[in-house]
Amino acid sequence: MRNEIINLLKKEEKFSEKTIDELRDVEINDFAEMIKDLGQQPTEYIKREEIVKDLNTEQIGKELYIFKEVMSTNTVAKFLSANHAENGCVILSEKQSNAKGRLGKSWESPLGGIWLSIILKSQVDHSKLPMITLATGVAVVKALEKVGITNAEIKWPNDIMINGKKVSGILTEAITKFNTIENIIIGVGIDANFDVDILSKELQEGTTTLDTELGHRVDENEIIRLFLEEFEKIFILFNDGGFEQILKEWRKYSYSIGKIVEVREPFNKSYDGYVLGISREGALVVEKIDGTLEKVISGECIIKN
Ligand code: BTN
Repeated sequence: MRNEIINLLKKEEKFSEKTIDELRDVEINDFAEMIKDLGQQPTEYIKREEIVKDLNTEQIGKELYIFKEVMSTNTVAKFLSANHAENGCVILSEKQSNAKGRLGKSWESPLGGIWLSIILKSQVDHSKLPMITLATGVAVVKALEKVGITNAEIKWPNDIMINGKKVSGILTEAITKFNTIENIIIGVGIDANFDVDILSKELQEGTTTLDTELGHRVDENEIIRLFLEEFEKIFILFNDGGFEQILKEWRKYSYSIGKIVEVREPFNKSYDGYVLGISREGALVVEKIDGTLEKVISGECIIKN
């Protein structure tokens, strides 16, 4: 990970003269400070002042780093989570060059999108992680509602869809020590202001952007602020054990329930079925063609009708 972070520094004029070895020898705390400093330099269109001026949160986004370009905000978040970042610290980047999607896929992150990661320093039980992802999906939809997108839905587990096309994805990563979760990184990508034609061919058909849906550019900074506020609200609910309420909200926005799907679970297990609902643990409950029920905890679900 240090190499990736070094690459980030090497792009900066201030550091370009330094050799890789010089940077590699920097003591880890100083190195983290260099990154934090870089995350406070001026950026083009994601603007710290715009985000923080009305930000109504206690913790989420109070520590905020914004970059022009990183490989992946989740990686920077992982590094900072181990190096004195506070709970609720947010990492944003205007562009990502090697971003990660779910299931080992890559994630295209051109200029004009919202690419962010939140660091949660919570000792959450492994079994509760899916619930955090579902809660994040609800927070995205609620933030979008506030800027006039009234028809966003959540395709299990965490694809945000508008008119059947994906507009946002969430990647939750747990950092564990001796099998205990120490930190959680929640990565959120929202396709805000760009033309899908700039994405690779195979993504174009199934992807949409906020400006395409609304017919005008959206204010990324406002959406970031709204999302951080919604996220904090739902995370407080999560911490208070309000899982039923989170599930109720999720069901309200569900794109998957009532659909015929092809479920692709890890290790090539795949089958067709009808989505009955979502269980208390956040698993998708699918009735297979033979009438048996499956609870899907991880994997992918392709809508067939
Ligand atoms: C998905 O496959 O749907 C999840 C996509 C998650 C993308 C976001 S963008 C910000 C953060 N940094 C990453 O490298 N990935 C996540």
